[in-house]
Amino acid sequence: MSVLVTNIGELVTNDPEADDLLGVRRDAALVMQDGLVAWVGPATDAPAADEVVDVEGRAVLPGFVDSHSHLVFAGDRAAEFRARMAGESYAAGGIRTTVAATRAASDAELAAGVERLVTEMRRQGTTTVEVKSGYGLTVEDEARSLRVARRFTDETTFLGAHVVPEGYDAAAYVDLVTGPMLEACAPHARWVDAFCERGAFDADQARAVLASGVAAGLRGRLHANQLGPGPGVRLAAELALVAVDHCTHLTDDDVHALRESGTIATLLPGVEFSTRQPYPDARRLLEAGVRVALASDCNPGSSYTSSMPFCVAVAVREMGLTPEQAVHAATAGGAAALDRADVGSLVVGQRADVVLLDAPSHVHLAYRPGVPLVSRVWVAGRSGRLGRE
Ligand code: NIG
Ligand code: FE
Repeated sequence: MSVLVTNIGELVTNDPEADDLLGVRRDAALVMQDGLVAWVGPATDAPAADEVVDVEGRAVLPGFVDSHSHLVFAGDRAAEFRARMAGESYAAGGIRTTVAATRAASDAELAAGVERLVTEMRRQGTTTVEVKSGYGLTVEDEARSLRVARRFTDETTFLGAHVVPEGYDAAAYVDLVTGPMLEACAPHARWVDAFCERGAFDADQARAVLASGVAAGLRGRLHANQLGPGPGVRLAAELALVAVDHCTHLTDDDVHALRESGTIATLLPGVEFSTRQPYPDARRLLEAGVRVALASDCNPGSSYTSSMPFCVAVAVREMGLTPEQAVHAATAGGAAALDRADVGSLVVGQRADVVLLDAPSHVHLAYRPGVPLVSRVWVAGRSGRLGRE
């Protein structure tokens, strides 16, 4: 079954061979077959296909790759958000509220919550999503969080080191995370992560968690420098992790270390929006030669948005990115942050993850914030839900 999408006014390919960042082609067409992009070229040269979709001059782009989310949880923290908007500040300890609700929920309730958020994401153009554990914080609750996440994505991350739960001292909890919890969780995860921040885990603890995860066959990523300056970004660079996430507070040394290691800085505009923190300067990073990704960090505490278009708009308005840079960071950037070569661009041979905008250009994602512009999404060539890849 082949699908021809034709009369594309602006096709964002992210072709790395192109002269412009987004590899834009005008008056283009694209064929999807067997789940992959089979042909890209001028609409006038388009081959025949089983199904033809005429998009009448609209823009088409690669699906968003949301490389950072925490979707396995129960309850919400609207009261905490409300208090913050009245002047309270965000603290890592709020995580424990969600831990209590998550432990009390059934597997079916947790799965229904993930399904709801994944469906929201898909409607807004996300075609690949990473999902973390981190609201269970017992061996069984972390393992079941990852089993639930795996029903929706292969990009699952073990985040037992999210915060030290009640009843533990930090050293004893790190022993649990790096021992029995890792053993129970590793079979269901691709990545290992830690929240390296004052109030959560220090650099030595984060280093131990990442080292044990890597020894168990996982790959490392890190939450760092969210609430203040700290050692996390430099640790990520030293370990040459593929990505380090948040990067809200960066010194010149941090930026230099990221440039040297090639570690991607994943910026999470929903967090600064929802916690009233200052936004990181993405332009500074790009100018220093650091690669940047954008992700939602969808979670009930610091960023309860599932919308990559929202993140693109905020990153343009508040982080100094151009619309081109923001769209690239939310597609190819996310793919690089997950070390995925098969998604994030629309060139022949890539997975056919395709988003149709009800707009003539990608610029409208930032220019028309809050407007539901995503009108159709194909995942691996199929029009439908964002399921397990
Ligand atoms: O990525 N920073 C740590 N973890 C989440 C927030 C979790 C929460 O507040 O529930 C984050 O922002
Ligand atoms: Fe996070």
